[in-house]
Amino acid sequence: MYAGTADRATGSEPSMPEGPMVDLHGVDVTFESKARTVHALSAIDLTIERGEFLTIAGPSGCGKSTLLRVVAGLTATAAGEVALRGTPVVGPRRDVGFVFQRAALLDWRNARDNILFQAEMRGLPKVWARRRADELIEMTGLTGFEKAMPFELSGGMQQRVSLCRALLHEPDVLLMDEPFGALDALTRENMNVELRRIWEATGMTVVLVTHSVAEAVYLASRAVVMGPRPGRIIEEFTVGIPGHREYEPTLENPEFHRIAGRIRELLGSTATAD
Ligand SMILES: Nc1ncnc2c1ncn2[C@@H]1O[C@H](COP(=O)(O)OP(=O)(O)OP(=O)(O)O)[C@@H](O)[C@H]1O
Ligand SMILES: [Mg+2]
Repeated sequence: MYAGTADRATGSEPSMPEGPMVDLHGVDVTFESKARTVHALSAIDLTIERGEFLTIAGPSGCGKSTLLRVVAGLTATAAGEVALRGTPVVGPRRDVGFVFQRAALLDWRNARDNILFQAEMRGLPKVWARRRADELIEMTGLTGFEKAMPFELSGGMQQRVSLCRALLHEPDVLLMDEPFGALDALTRENMNVELRRIWEATGMTVVLVTHSVAEAVYLASRAVVMGPRPGRIIEEFTVGIPGHREYEPTLENPEFHRIAGRIRELLGSTATAD
């Protein structure tokens, strides 16, 4: 899947050669506690093809994080079917990578050792993992900071480490839950450009949740918008801006304006200003 990587160290789930990467049909999720019952997702149908960059926007509490967790097998469904690479998701899946809003690095480990933590948890071969970590460090522009401790890294660099950690085991799909939400606007733009470049270079499947309309459109090959709880998909857009996307020119592209405008309308006052 990635250039320069000779062999796969994961592949714990048997895979079907063809078909979509992610397939959700009629997915419902309900959270029940003594105090309340929350109907978080309702009748979600979503098919994500291999190599797509799908972004998800929607108002706070509409179930975006829940949707990612369902794909990863971390949250159980009340109804419907979820499949990843053609196999039903019935529990936590090892063939996904997850990046959260906060980098959640281990304070006492340097950047490289934080990335390698993924390999230790999964019992991946050490020599393979080190080589892979070095490739990712280079790909994300962290060269020179391998030994830096988390407190010595900027927020953007911490998120790069977190991205490397999520990619170490060559997941088939990368799930990102507002990964740049805690960064300042300029760092966020730079991270958008880098992530887009990495996606263009690797062709991996990415699903990214964001509150930023600009991010949702700039990054996506397809963008979906969810409505308020219980979360449903209310509209989707194929972003017809092919090939490499420079940042500023893309934001001035009429296709970008058309889709971003419509998403802003759909989100109404719940969207952030950018
Ligand atoms: N583990 C849980 N237990 C109980 N309720 C939950 C749990 N996880 C999520 N919920 C509820 O499900 C709904 C959807 O939550 P979710 O975190 O998926 O929303 P979201 O779209 O990611 O919101 P935000 O944009 O604020 O991150 C919310 O009402 C939330 O309170
Ligand atoms: Mg969330």
